[in-house]
Amino acid sequence: MAGERAPRAHVVCRADELPPGGRVLVNLDGRSVGVFNIDGQLHALHNRCPHAAGALCMGPVTGTTAPTEAGARTFVYTQANHILRCAWHGWEFEIESGRCLSDDRVRAKRFKVAVDQGQVVVTI
Ligand code: FES
Repeated sequence: MAGERAPRAHVVCRADELPPGGRVLVNLDGRSVGVFNIDGQLHALHNRCPHAAGALCMGPVTGTTAPTEAGARTFVYTQANHILRCAWHGWEFEIESGRCLSDDRVRAKRFKVAVDQGQVVVTI
């Protein structure tokens, strides 16, 4: 399609600079991208919240509260360190899927990320 760029791989950092629990924010071809290491798995998300274009990747990595079962009035803290809470208005997203917890139709944009020869590489 006219105007679309071919995907391009970008070295973001050395893999040992992004340990479990770590994150880096980088600018790749004019796009701000957050790369997260969650329990040894890397995830790259666009630092642009689908709600109102806020700095999604600047928010805390946390968990969330969820009902103990559908329709229940009791809640538990769950998914610790797997939820990204947007820095602007607090919408919560699963880092692994990009899914917005409050609206299943909304997704944070994800990018392909891998380790190649000791380097973290994001393709956008
Ligand atoms: S811009 Fe992210 S929750 Fe509003």
